Amino acid sequence: MKAIILAGGSGTRLHPCTQALCKQLLPIYDKPMIYYPLSVVMLAGLREVLLITTEADQPLFHRLLGDGAAWGLSLTYAVQPRPEGLAQALTIGRDFLDGGPCCLILGDNLFFGHGLSELLRRGAALRHGGLIYGYRVADPSAYGVVELDAAGRPLGIEEKPAVPRSPYAVPGLYFYGAEVCDDAATLPRGARGEYEITDLNRRLLQRGDLAVELMGRGLAWLDTGTPQGLLEASNLVAALQQRQGLGIACLEEIAFHQGWIDIDAVRRRLAAMGRSPYAAHVAALLHDDLKAVA
Ligand code: DAU
Repeated sequence: MKAIILAGGSGTRLHPCTQALCKQLLPIYDKPMIYYPLSVVMLAGLREVLLITTEADQPLFHRLLGDGAAWGLSLTYAVQPRPEGLAQALTIGRDFLDGGPCCLILGDNLFFGHGLSELLRRGAALRHGGLIYGYRVADPSAYGVVELDAAGRPLGIEEKPAVPRSPYAVPGLYFYGAEVCDDAATLPRGARGEYEITDLNRRLLQRGDLAVELMGRGLAWLDTGTPQGLLEASNLVAALQQRQGLGIACLEEIAFHQGWIDIDAVRRRLAAMGRSPYAAHVAALLHDDLKAVA
């Protein structure tokens, strides 16, 4: 399975200047926002990644992430000329996917916590239909909302309903079988004039091809679309990292534990990093975990 990260423009309720700076490159505590969705696809075991950005932002992402080889990844880039909807990622990414299944994740969605790796590995095994998630939130009306029956099967899915039919928001993480590119290619524009991921998921649901898994309360899903959301995400990452001494979305750690890079590659990364809390975490890893296997 391959992965697509959509980190294009629009959709943000931040100051316009933040948008000009490219939101997904802003720091969430000690690392750029894009590290978080990248860590998710790496935890899913996916090494071939397409990063979709605006044309203006592409060189910035490239300067930060390069071709992904530093983490044992193959990272390629594509442009979304205008923000015409999340489902457009699947038409832009069609050649990249080359008839295979995919994981689609939004560049501003953060996930971490207990059971995430297992959940992602289950998703990465999908070959047909779609798998989306339900995450209980206090106010689901800002999201896609999925309604489930008593057995957990999806009954309906709506985008930003004024009166949500369930407390389960749909996070920006989706797994699809190969046929989804055909569905995306024939999807009409929705009421907002965009190719809506919720319309695509509804189509799969109506065909009986959509599964929904609920994310438990041990998992954190954070939205960074508002100033408050950005602040809360940074605060939560800071609190957990400081308390536990463990890193969230440390790409070197994940790549090493996946067996994609060796200890010398981690050392080289660290040497090029300068001094920062993120670098200190990588240094601690070298000292503790990695020493045992060197
Ligand atoms: O965060 C999860 C939610 O994401 C889902 O619950 C909704 O079903 C889904 O529609 C989406 O809702 P948002 O209102 O958060 O989407 P927004 O337009 O804010 O876009 C989300 C991110 O994707 C944002 O960083 C901008 C980027 N984006 C958006 C669009 C429409 C693109 O890169 N390209 C696009 O065309």
